Amino acid sequence: MTTNRVTPTNRAMELQPDEFIVSKTDTQGRITYANRVFMRLSGYTEAELLGANHNILRHPDMPKGVYKLFWDTISQGGEFFGFVKNLCKTGDHYWVFATVTPDFDARGRIEGYFSVRRRPAAGAVERITPLYEHMLDIERRTGGAGAAAASLTYLQEQLREEHAGYEPFVFGLQA
Ligand SMILES: Cc1cc2nc3c(=O)[nH]c(=O)nc-3n(C[C@H](O)[C@H](O)[C@H](O)COP(=O)(O)O)c2cc1C
Repeated sequence: MTTNRVTPTNRAMELQPDEFIVSKTDTQGRITYANRVFMRLSGYTEAELLGANHNILRHPDMPKGVYKLFWDTISQGGEFFGFVKNLCKTGDHYWVFATVTPDFDARGRIEGYFSVRRRPAAGAVERITPLYEHMLDIERRTGGAGAAAASLTYLQEQLREEHAGYEPFVFGLQA
């Protein structure tokens, strides 16, 4: 698995409103396709991206619990929607609203995943950031193997009470 040694700079890059980042992976999250917008924004060449795990972009501000929800959803054949902060090769970062779906073979088995990411709607990042910060806090306090589950439980309970759940909340932010 790829280990990310890039140090964050705190400088934000942005997708244009009409731009999309597209990528495809195998079942393990290893990149098999990257479009030009992906290469330009992330700062990686096609040769660097192809075969790398998608965690090459992982930003330390992203809670493990979000990736737990992500993998739990897509590995069971579902579609994931969410806000993701990604790390460029330079250490700069960019926020996206991501949609990730499984690719099925002729027998209906998952053969890989497909992801499209667009610019987050105005105000969405400001709403999601404190939730992610609280999740990171829970993960630091919990530690170990249970950290992701603990922070995900917090996210889901928080959003169930106030917004009828995770999906209605993220759709509301991106609408
Ligand atoms: C289609 C697809 C797209 C992904 N896109 C991203 C992404 O943009 N950023 C990211 O950090 N992880 C992405 N991931 C998840 C990574 O593979 C990885 O699980 C995540 O970065 C957490 O890293 P870790 O599993 O090493 O903890 C994607 C996975 C798939 C299958």
